[in-house]
Parts: sequence; structure tokens; C-alpha cells
Amino acid sequence: MDQNELKKAVAKAAADYVNQRLDDHTVIGVGTGSTANYFIDYLAEFGDDIRATVASSEETARRLKAHNIEVMDLNAAPEVTIYVDGADEANKYLHLIKGGGGALTREKIIAAVAKEFVCIADGSKLVDVLGTFPLPVEVIPMARSHVGRQIVKLGGDPVYREGFVTDNGNIIIDIHHMDIMEPRKLEEQLNQITGVVTNGLFAVRPADKLILGTKEGIRTLTAN
Ligand code: A5P
Repeated sequence: MDQNELKKAVAKAAADYVNQRLDDHTVIGVGTGSTANYFIDYLAEFGDDIRATVASSEETARRLKAHNIEVMDLNAAPEVTIYVDGADEANKYLHLIKGGGGALTREKIIAAVAKEFVCIADGSKLVDVLGTFPLPVEVIPMARSHVGRQIVKLGGDPVYREGFVTDNGNIIIDIHHMDIMEPRKLEEQLNQITGVVTNGLFAVRPADKLILGTKEGIRTLTAN
């Protein structure tokens, strides 16, 4: 199986898991990226059984609507029952790096609200130490240089993501060359920098379940 087939396999496993939890009140949070896109395509097969979704990006909202799936404003949602999204890296504690696609802030908001957060990824995303994948930080444009200097003080190598604007009208700085030994601490330190909207570490609110697609089959890790 190639990487795309592994992504499809975990997307299918997540869709089956969500299907068991569907009732009239279920609101599904839907992530962003290629793995999440496969998940959306499987969700579409459930037709009218899907009552409502909230989307973590404009791109995801467009894809859901193209399948005639109802997308609602998060502020109007009484709850987010379950949130399904991909990741760029994950560790065994279900801490994640997300935001390769630049949707980290809306993803983090939905994760914060969700009763259950299910992360889906191909097995190559599981690492011992987070940080080989550059860590995205969403930044208010006028704070770019200030935030860059503070990242250097924390030991990172900030790289401005040229030509990219987030759905919220901000920029992304990717932090390279940082072994993230204490994900929760770094997440909080970065969020303390004035001008940072949020960063792509999901350790304060990790996933509850990590479904990995491997050549040997589906592997599920849970928190604790
Ligand atoms: C989007 O901003 C990201 O957080 C994605 O969830 C992440 O980049 C995973 O993307 P793929 O499923 O395309 O690997």
C-alpha cells in the first residue's frame, strides 16, 4: 500500500467509527488536508444521516458543501460531538504537530470544543520526538519580525511561509530545526509571544484517539 492508500484506509476506519455515533444531535468537526479529504468523501456516503458539521477551513467547508453536507457556524453549534482530522506528526502521547496546510488556528478551536478528538494519519507520521516537521505558527502580519526574533531566543529557526495567507488573514512562520522535548511547555511559551495567534502544537489538548494506517493494518492508540 502506498501512502495515499494508507490515508484512505484510516479515513474509512474513522468514518466507520463516526457512523456508530450518529444520532440527531451529532455535530461532526471536520479537519483539513489530504487525509481529512478522504474522510469527507466517506462521510458523504452516509447521506442524510449526517445532520451537521463544522469545518476547520474554507477549503473543507467547500468540499463538504460540494457533497451536500450541512456546514454550520461553530458559534451556532450546541456541541461538537466528535472531531476528525489529520496531523503532520504525532507522538505516543497523542501530542501532534498540525498546520502544514495552514489551518491550525481553526483546527485548534474545534479541538478545544470537541468532546472527542480523533486523529487519523498514515503510520509514517508517528515519531519519537516532535519537530522534524517544521512547526507552524500563525502570526498577525505586523508582528512577523518580533515573533521571529522571539522564536530564535527559544532555539528555533523561523522561516516565513512566502505568499501564504491564512483563512483568518494572517501569515505563517514555520519553525525549523527544533527537537521538541516538552511539547506542552513550548506550546504555551509560543502562545505567550505577542502577535502569535496560535501554534501548531496540540499538546495542551492532545488527540483522544490516534488511528494509524500501517502496512500491517489499522493501529489505534488512545490517550492514557
Ligand atoms: C492542515 O492545516 C493540517 O493540520 C493537516 O491536518 C495536516 O497537515 C495533515 O495533512 P495531510 O492529511 O495532508 O497529511
